[in-house]
This record gives sequence, structure tokens and C-alpha cells, in this order.
Amino acid sequence: MTEAKYIPLDSFCQYSLEEMKQRAASFRAHMQRRRSVRSFSSDPVPREVIEDCLLTASSAPSGANKQPWHFVVVSDPAVKRQLKKRAEKEEYEFYHGRADEEWLEALSCLGTGYEKPFLEEAPYLIVVFEKKWGVLEDGGKEKHYYVKESVGIATGLLIAAIHNAGMVGLPYTPSRMGFLREILGRGENERAFLVLVVGYPRQGVKVPELERKGLKEIATFV
Ligand SMILES: Cc1cc2nc3c(=O)[nH]c(=O)nc-3n(C[C@H](O)[C@H](O)[C@H](O)COP(=O)(O)O)c2cc1C
Repeated sequence: MTEAKYIPLDSFCQYSLEEMKQRAASFRAHMQRRRSVRSFSSDPVPREVIEDCLLTASSAPSGANKQPWHFVVVSDPAVKRQLKKRAEKEEYEFYHGRADEEWLEALSCLGTGYEKPFLEEAPYLIVVFEKKWGVLEDGGKEKHYYVKESVGIATGLLIAAIHNAGMVGLPYTPSRMGFLREILGRGENERAFLVLVVGYPRQGVKVPELERKGLKEIATFV
């Protein structure tokens, strides 16, 4: 057993009531402007901005603080081309057989299809991996807890950080993702969770007209 050590909570900052309300409302408004974009400009994004966003993601809480995530940041055009080729193969099979009618109907309002040009257009593809277990220095296995929940939270923070930095992101999940681990050479303890396509939107891009649920629909106060 390791004994817990404690430090003062120096990072906490209590705002006045007024400031609290203002901060909550302005963050809400800022986040409500976030949209998933499917057409990117090829303008480069500074790597240091991506690095900061990754560190924001990694500030997420995680089960037993195991931080069971790994981010592979792809900018090499040859690797992007390879990923696009494999993704489109999976997507072709999905749209031409694997997906049932209900799933295709749910996707129809987004106008998506099997072709994924954004996988080559965007400057960065951040492939988020979940680490099903950790690998100790001696090669032994370290148990991880609530892996999906933890990686989902980290990915949410990453999406927020990308938006906050003035870029757009598309969470992309090919219906079969095994090829990501294969192409990117990750260990058998890792599984691809999601690809976040990151960059600037192509000029004049349009996004699907969607509605977000209101507070009454999403929350119950007891
Ligand atoms: C887990 C997850 C997987 C997603 N997978 C895809 C995908 O494979 N392809 C795609 O075009 N959009 C994908 N999206 C984006 C959603 O379609 C999008 O978030 C949703 O339509 C709401 O639009 P908004 O992000 O602009 O608010 C995914 C989003 C999430 C959270």
C-alpha cells in the first residue's frame, strides 16, 4: 500500500457571485459555438498549440488516476494518405452493407458518405487511444479502471481546448478501427477510441443545421 500525501489546494480560486455568473454564461456561449466541421483548409496549425491542447486533455480526471490515454498526432502526409485509404475501405463496406437502415437514417441529416477527404486535408489527425491496461517497467500488467469513461472525458477536454484555441475539430469514428492501431504501431494494450480531425475550416464551409436539446430536456433538478 502506498500512503497518500497531501498538498494545499493552491489552484482553487473563488470568484464573486457576479463574476461566477458571468464566467459560466460566457463559457456556455463560447462552447455553444463549437461545431463539427467536415471540410478543412490545409493551412498549418502551430504544433505548440496542439501540444497545449493535449496537455489540457491530459488534465482530465481518470479512474484511480491511471490516465489511460495516448494521443498519436499525425501530420505526415504519407501516413494520412494510408489512414484515409484504410478508413474509406471500412466506410465503403459500412455504407454498402454493414450499417442497418436505422443507422443510415440517423446519419442522413449529416450528409456523410464513405469518402473522407478531410483525413488528408486537415493538418492534424489526433488519434486517441485508450490503454486497456498499463505496462510496467518489468513488462508486467497494471490494471486500469473506468477506461472508457476516463478517455471520453479527456477527449471532451481536447475538443473544448481545440475550439478554445480557435480551431475546429471533427470527432471521427470509422465503424471498425483496428487499422488505426496497426498502421500507427501501437501496443496490444491499446485500442483506438476516436480520431479528432483538427485544423481550420475551409473557407465558406457549411455545417448541418442541427438543434441542441434545451435544459428541461437534458437535466432534472431534484
Ligand atoms: C463519439 C462520436 C463519434 C462521432 N463519429 C463521427 C463520424 O464518424 N463521422 C462524422 O462525420 N461525425 C462524427 N461525429 C460528429 C457528430 O456527428 C456531431 O458531433 C453531431 O452531429 C453534432 O454536431 P456538432 O458536433 O456540430 O454539434 C461523432 C461524434 C462523436 C461524439
